[in-house]
Amino acid sequence: MPIMEPYRIKVVEPIPITTRPYRELALARAGYNQFNLTAQDVTIDLLSDSGTGALSAEQQAAGIRGDETYAGSRSFFRFRDVVSELTGYEHIYPVHQGRGAERILFTSLLKPGQVCVSNTHFDTTRANVEIIGAVALDLPCEESKDLDSDHPFKGDVDLAALEAVLAGPEDVGLVLMTITNNGGGGQPVSMANLEAVSALARKHGVPFFLDAARFAENAWLVTEREPGYGDITPREVARKAFALADGCVASLKKDGIVHIGGLLALRDPELAQRCELLLTATEGFRTYGGLAGRDLDMLAQGLLEVTEPTYLRARAAATAYLADLAQQGGVHSVRPTGVHAVYLNAGRLLPHLPSERFPGHALALELYLAGGIRCAEVGSLYLGELDEDGTMLKPAPYELVRLAIPRRVYTQSHLEYVGEVIQGIAKDPERVPGYRMVYAPPLLRPFNCKLEPV
Ligand code: F0G
Repeated sequence: MPIMEPYRIKVVEPIPITTRPYRELALARAGYNQFNLTAQDVTIDLLSDSGTGALSAEQQAAGIRGDETYAGSRSFFRFRDVVSELTGYEHIYPVHQGRGAERILFTSLLKPGQVCVSNTHFDTTRANVEIIGAVALDLPCEESKDLDSDHPFKGDVDLAALEAVLAGPEDVGLVLMTITNNGGGGQPVSMANLEAVSALARKHGVPFFLDAARFAENAWLVTEREPGYGDITPREVARKAFALADGCVASLKKDGIVHIGGLLALRDPELAQRCELLLTATEGFRTYGGLAGRDLDMLAQGLLEVTEPTYLRARAAATAYLADLAQQGGVHSVRPTGVHAVYLNAGRLLPHLPSERFPGHALALELYLAGGIRCAEVGSLYLGELDEDGTMLKPAPYELVRLAIPRRVYTQSHLEYVGEVIQGIAKDPERVPGYRMVYAPPLLRPFNCKLEPV
């Protein structure tokens, strides 16, 4: 079977083609922070795969059928039926996006001082745990620490460490598995790992939830990499994963392929009642949760399309192709390549830049200057500890750049263009300047900091 985009283009949107002098000016104006660039400054936008996907014709049609009744709209029941068939959970609540679900679940479930254990918390997830005075503990598996190995499931949690925490003196309020592990290089979690986590959580009487933002992409990688799953559809794998947990939170801006939307779903009726109170008070009534009827209908359709094997195969192949193009230019990325993003190893490409010159950020900005490509650092700018005047106290363990691939948006020739820009930079990496932090806000540093080249 040929691997190509399994869709053709019916509606197009021009993308800005800019010059290097324009981009130099735009970046200086943005305080050398790509979050301050505007859409018209960017040619290929790989900042996020969240809410940036392209709708299908069937989703658009579903949107037109959306029912905007305040309570009990038809759209809600279509959404609920699809989610219920997929997850098997009884209590299904739409929310405006993933972090809405996180806030409601954690506020209803966790007490101050309790611990939430995960393979890796996504940053908003961590913030929502910490905001209520609980502790977010990441226990990624040992294999995840080697960026170059081809271990197939580097998203797994360290089971021995999890068991020790569950059996220890800590009061664990929740086990949360992020599939795929966005904070850990977009790596998948194996079904074997999820089964073991489920058994451990049950043994210790602790609720077990999934952060299922990329459930379909995780399921695809399970069918590709895990023995015994090669003949099972990604949808069936996803169902089995949901069946192992007590519920899920999910940003549906990823594998729902919509521009806005999220999900909180669970089994426990008593917990559901508490969540529903908060939902109604802060997101919206239980049959819309902050979304329009048209959003719910587009989601119902997107959640069907996203597990199509031809779609997932083509998407995974496109991401791996971009990683190969980078590799051909001598730029390494986190192995094995996942589905939603390529994580370039900037630290290795730019050894002349120490962590306080932010090699990941420097590579991300060079991609913008050289080709109008926007992406984000996952390294010391994001995760390092700095003191007030910007001195590096503790660098991040790796200096990476995430090229997140929006769903169904860019063609192979767009990715080839990105590959060429990466290869061009890699011909002369010593030319890439480092950056000095000139303003670092106390919170949410990557979004609001300002830098200058040195
Ligand atoms: N969980 C994971 C694993 C995520 O990747 C995200 C968002 C969230 C939760 C929060 O969901 O944005 O709908 O509130 N990730 C985006 C990204 C922002 O670019 O990776 P949200």
